[in-house]
Amino acid sequence: MNEIPAAIGLAPDQVEGLLTAAGRAPSLHNSQPWRFRVTPHMIELFADRNRALPVIDPRGRELRLACGAALFNVRLALHGYGVRPTVTILPDPNRPDLIAEIRNGGSKAPTPEQQGLLRAVPLRRTNRHPFSDAEVSPSELNALHRAALEENAWLHFVQEHDERTNLQDMASRAHRTQMGDPAFRTELAQWTAVAPDRVDGVPASAGGPLPAPQHRWVHRDFTGAADARTPAPPFEEEPVIAVLTAHLSGERAEIQAGQALQRVLLTATVEGLAVSFLSQIVEVQQTREELRRLVRGTHAPQAVLRIGHGWPVTATRRRQATDLLGPVPVSLS
Ligand SMILES: Cc1cc2nc3c(=O)[nH]c(=O)nc-3n(C[C@H](O)[C@H](O)[C@H](O)COP(=O)(O)O)c2cc1C
Repeated sequence: MNEIPAAIGLAPDQVEGLLTAAGRAPSLHNSQPWRFRVTPHMIELFADRNRALPVIDPRGRELRLACGAALFNVRLALHGYGVRPTVTILPDPNRPDLIAEIRNGGSKAPTPEQQGLLRAVPLRRTNRHPFSDAEVSPSELNALHRAALEENAWLHFVQEHDERTNLQDMASRAHRTQMGDPAFRTELAQWTAVAPDRVDGVPASAGGPLPAPQHRWVHRDFTGAADARTPAPPFEEEPVIAVLTAHLSGERAEIQAGQALQRVLLTATVEGLAVSFLSQIVEVQQTREELRRLVRGTHAPQAVLRIGHGWPVTATRRRQATDLLGPVPVSLS
């Protein structure tokens, strides 16, 4: 087992706390595609290509989103220890999998907002179950919007009837495209409906009921076997649907978007809101382009979120902090 060392002014148990917080980030199919190298003066966050999902995410875009989300948690954990993080994103063009270098930028007490977001890290979950029809209030929407802005991203709420109808159509078409690809189905099966003792992947219990065919927002099926499903309660009629775009383009923007995504998700947790993803729309190239036009964005959409008031769901598992250290995998890119 790897020993966790002291680093950047933190004691070993604090470094362990930081790695545990990082590891709680969301990732596509709970693939947890990150790895850390801890040295006395710097913590390096690497993308772990051994955990890439090449069929669904051939460019590694969602892998970088997940690493960005883990980076946001690292920043929060440092704030929690009274340390101002200094972060350099993609510091070495010769090592594209080195996502970020994190250093100690001096002492600074955390703000109440940072403390609240940090407390939300172990409580946040992806909630694929039906939400209630209770309205998401303007002040809750505003908090989410501000969270994205603070991380140099934009959260576009899709409110107009025609746009929502369009988006529903995109979601079903993208879902059909993906499910029609045998390679996609094989990769999905490797990472979902996983055995309960696995510390990665999505267990069937996290899948939620499959929406009825007439349900207009199509979800991915995580349940594996059809006969394992329980009868589905109705899904809410009108969830809030939000599209996250970064201000820049390229890999740096994807890491930025990942940090913004995590800030939005944690803010939702603080506000008592539930969130799930409709990523198929951004994963399939055609619908991704259509979505870019729909939100009239100059930059590519990075994530589509369904937001509402839900009921508690259980946490998915994670690897231990010690398992996030170790030899940095050879880059395949
Ligand atoms: C970039 C990204 C895309 C995701 N896309 C989907 C998706 O399309 N459908 C879904 O149900 N969950 C999606 N998720 C959620 C992950 O499956 C989830 O984060 C992971 O299983 C860990 O569970 P947790 O979020 O409850 O901790 C996505 C997460 C990330 C970071």
